[in-house]
Amino acid sequence: MTLEGKKVVLAYSGGLDTSVCLKWLEQQGATPYALYLDLGQGEPANDVKAKALDIGAADAFVRDAKEEFVREYVAPGIKANALYGGKYPLFTALGRPLIAKKLVEAAREVGATHVAHGSTGKGNDQVRFDVTTASIAPDLTVVAPVRDWNMNRPEEMEYAKEHGIPVPTTKESPYSVDANLWGRSIEAGPLEDPDHEPTEDVFELTSAPEDAPDEPRYVEISFEEGLPTALDGEELPLGELIASLNTIAGEHGVGRVDMIEDRLVGIKSREIYECPAALAIVQAHRELETLTLTKDVLRFKVSVEQRYAELTYDGLWFTPLKAALDAFVTETQKTVMGTVRLKLYKGSSTVVGRTAPRALYNKDLATYDPNSTFDEAAAAGFIALWGLPARQWAGVHGGIEQETMVQ
Ligand code: ARG
Repeated sequence: MTLEGKKVVLAYSGGLDTSVCLKWLEQQGATPYALYLDLGQGEPANDVKAKALDIGAADAFVRDAKEEFVREYVAPGIKANALYGGKYPLFTALGRPLIAKKLVEAAREVGATHVAHGSTGKGNDQVRFDVTTASIAPDLTVVAPVRDWNMNRPEEMEYAKEHGIPVPTTKESPYSVDANLWGRSIEAGPLEDPDHEPTEDVFELTSAPEDAPDEPRYVEISFEEGLPTALDGEELPLGELIASLNTIAGEHGVGRVDMIEDRLVGIKSREIYECPAALAIVQAHRELETLTLTKDVLRFKVSVEQRYAELTYDGLWFTPLKAALDAFVTETQKTVMGTVRLKLYKGSSTVVGRTAPRALYNKDLATYDPNSTFDEAAAAGFIALWGLPARQWAGVHGGIEQETMVQ
């Protein structure tokens, strides 16, 4: 594919990979534009614009997308309790479709025919960028210089030096890190040995449980329609609530994940995540759902949640199935309102209390006190009919797998 004379908008982080991409695009004769997005990753965005222009960008845009990220991506993820493999709160996977969408918007603004990203050919991110772009702007072409050019790190450094791109001068971290407001991932280096315990230099958002305060911290998360609205009784916009909870839970060593993950491209990878707020919020949200949703909805929703997480992980955010699952999930959240109290203590987060104005829990029914309103006499008849098929089978066949039963 020739890029000669083409306008290309590149997702730019300011780091080495995407800086090299920028220069490379320029050298192909393209007119590159850089787009830096703030998704709450906490990196300084200040000199990113100057750096991009210096390297050769025709223009560079620095945009704050935190609010949109929280509202359109994180919030649905919370309602769906979206955890891939039951553990990973999908922060990177949720961020990529938004970055792709913003690339498309910028491409429309400058009249570009191409968008570009710095993903390698081994990960999930390339899939998310490419498929999202295809889903929302099938007329645009996606360029992935790192993947297509197949440069390794030393070659990138060499190329950068040759072209006057500033390379990291401090001793390079062995890790590959990606972060946004919803969490932080750490991969590579010594972590590629799945039997190697991560050392403390891996972590930034969480204390080691053994260094966490000796006193437990109680925190109350209040929800309305399935979304957190207040922390310890103080109403906060969701983005601020997440940031604040990241600090509180992280201080108590809550939020570390160490997992083997199945990537879409078929590789198993070892991943370390730090996501204190995400894990605490999903834990509290699930708990509140048990108090406010019916048994049937809860049982059915579990399978939807798993599919939701997989679609998110697999780059299928802007697809009809995902939209349909959103409709289901949103419907279930109308009555999910109340407060959950968590006890944070040396790396653990435990639910110790929950209240809801429209709780389906009824103490009068559940109590073992003699004044319970539950009609125990009705139980015998219910069980006789409930067990009828089992009794019938046993009568005809003499029971099932008798030989394996303990004598
Ligand atoms: N394994 C996670 C995912 O696939 C995190 C990927 C982090 N991405 C990165 N470019 N470092 O969503």
